[in-house]
Amino acid sequence: MKLPKPGTIEIAPSILSADFARLADQLAMIESAGVNIVHLDIMDGHFVPNITFGPPVVAKIREVSNLIFDAHLMITHPAKYAKAFVDAGVNHITFHIETVDNAAKFIDDLHQYGVSVGVSLNPETPVESIEEVALLCDMILVMTVHPGFGGQEFMPAPAKKIIRLKQIVDDKIRIEVDGGIDKQTAPIVVSYGADTLVAGNAIFCHPDPIKAIDILKQSVETGHISNKK
Ligand code: DX5
Ligand code: ZN
Repeated sequence: MKLPKPGTIEIAPSILSADFARLADQLAMIESAGVNIVHLDIMDGHFVPNITFGPPVVAKIREVSNLIFDAHLMITHPAKYAKAFVDAGVNHITFHIETVDNAAKFIDDLHQYGVSVGVSLNPETPVESIEEVALLCDMILVMTVHPGFGGQEFMPAPAKKIIRLKQIVDDKIRIEVDGGIDKQTAPIVVSYGADTLVAGNAIFCHPDPIKAIDILKQSVETGHISNKK
């Protein structure tokens, strides 16, 4: 399972806000809504001040889902754990640029493992820090909140980095945005050039998550109009 080609808008629900006691049901629900990618937030309590889940949980949900597993590693030692996540069944691995010494080599290692690769920019991290390796990746992840928790408010300034990134990567690779994405902010980041929209709270805290996915999709279809209002 590979990422769709760049440019197609994909909603990637983050299960951080899902009901962890009913993960199989929640995955089936988003799949029935026509989603192709699920975003897995992996936190180690060190790189970020929160802890989520690791390879054993990923391996179990792999058994019950055909979605593309997009693993967002918010961990201090991604090189140490990446292979375990690959073996557990993830299809895509994003790491934070601050967490590796030799990003180009790590990207190559991940490709050798057979997964696609993303590199992530924290709100304060400048685009220049990944410029050299951007085109070695399959997707760049722009954080629009400080990583660690769902349900935070969208930060408009870091989102503007998408514009600069788009100039660098053109239509060659995907641009993912993560944090505070809802029907108001989704059209903004799409207008900047993002094509992959992570959403946790906007989907799983909505009384009808399937409807919430539809609302997000519609917001980006009509967004260029509402943006001008
Ligand atoms: C934050 C995570 C996000 C988070 C997004 O550290 O990386 O993926 O789940 O959640 P919302 O959409 O609620 O901001
Ligand atoms: Zn994330």
